[in-house]
Amino acid sequence: MAQAETEQLNQMILNVALSRAVCSVAELGVADHLEAGTPRSAEDLAKETGAHPRSLHRVLRFLAGHGLFQETADGRFDHTPLSSVLRTDAEGSYRAGARMFHRMFPAWDGLDHSLRTGEPGFNKVFGMGVFDYVGQNPDLGPILDAGMTCFHGYETGAMLEAYDFGGVQVLADIGGGNGSLISGVLQRYPEMRGLLFDLGHVMARAKANLQAAGLAERCQVLEGSFFESIPAGADAYLFRHIIHDWTDEQCIQILGHCRKVIPETGRVLLVECVVPKGNGPSISKYFDMTMMTFPGGIERTAAEFERLLAQSGFELASITPTSSMVSVVEGRPLRG
Ligand SMILES: C[S@@+](CC[C@H](N)C(=O)[O-])C[C@H]1O[C@@H](n2cnc3c(N)ncnc32)[C@H](O)[C@@H]1O
Repeated sequence: MAQAETEQLNQMILNVALSRAVCSVAELGVADHLEAGTPRSAEDLAKETGAHPRSLHRVLRFLAGHGLFQETADGRFDHTPLSSVLRTDAEGSYRAGARMFHRMFPAWDGLDHSLRTGEPGFNKVFGMGVFDYVGQNPDLGPILDAGMTCFHGYETGAMLEAYDFGGVQVLADIGGGNGSLISGVLQRYPEMRGLLFDLGHVMARAKANLQAAGLAERCQVLEGSFFESIPAGADAYLFRHIIHDWTDEQCIQILGHCRKVIPETGRVLLVECVVPKGNGPSISKYFDMTMMTFPGGIERTAAEFERLLAQSGFELASITPTSSMVSVVEGRPLRG
């Protein structure tokens, strides 16, 4: 085998170290103890964070090789643009995103189980589904909310730039989480009213955020499971990063409940990655591995969305790409 291929395979197999190191350093809060332009030694940082000094030095040196922190000539460490956003107080801080995966990292042991059985590896490792696990570990809720905002928050602006919500009177955000998405849409469209629907343990956080955004009057918050029913009363039903969490059968159930209540002139909007054709690398393929292992879901191709919609009583009307990794997949009720 050529040396280049050997090295590429070595790196692929050992790549887990990179993910683990980023998440562990974020959990320890190392970035919070550094000010850009004021380098500090690993010994100092270890004292602040309770880390083992030599191990911290080695981890930071490794991360510096990937542009996260930088080692100065005298062996101290400083921030880079990437490590700066691991600070808790950074605008768009990524610390929660890394901590979210840190807390659930053992789920990756289950990828092998997913590969062999098609079942979510998370359930095999943790003994329950990811959403039940979050419900039973209340301290995880805020980390998950903030983590979701890290990974997906920037998509809201990109979606609003690309997709015209004009004409929607009441927008339902199904599985709306902490309310940041519906808040963004309602702020852009002052005449629109909203409805956020999610599980019970999410309600308090969603209500608090809508209140803080001054939108409590314009957005109803309803508790329930989309496997039982979806509330009527909206003319557009938005599902961002919901459909990718579930198998085709489960999605048909969820979208089927939506089909029962949506007006004939309504629209269903699935905001998701659309997996491109071809062999090229794509972040959507990383998320697909994550969906397979964690909730047991799927990132889908355009053809798979079209089929899923048809099986749920909708026809694919359009797919609008955005400047972020997601597209808006619009479905309209099939007649008859
Ligand atoms: C991946 S998060 C997406 C959150 C939000 N849509 C966003 O884009 O930031 C999935 C959401 O689905 C909600 N969820 C999971 N199972 C649900 C169910 N059976 N019924 C309603 N919501 C559910 C979770 O509580 C969580 O808020």
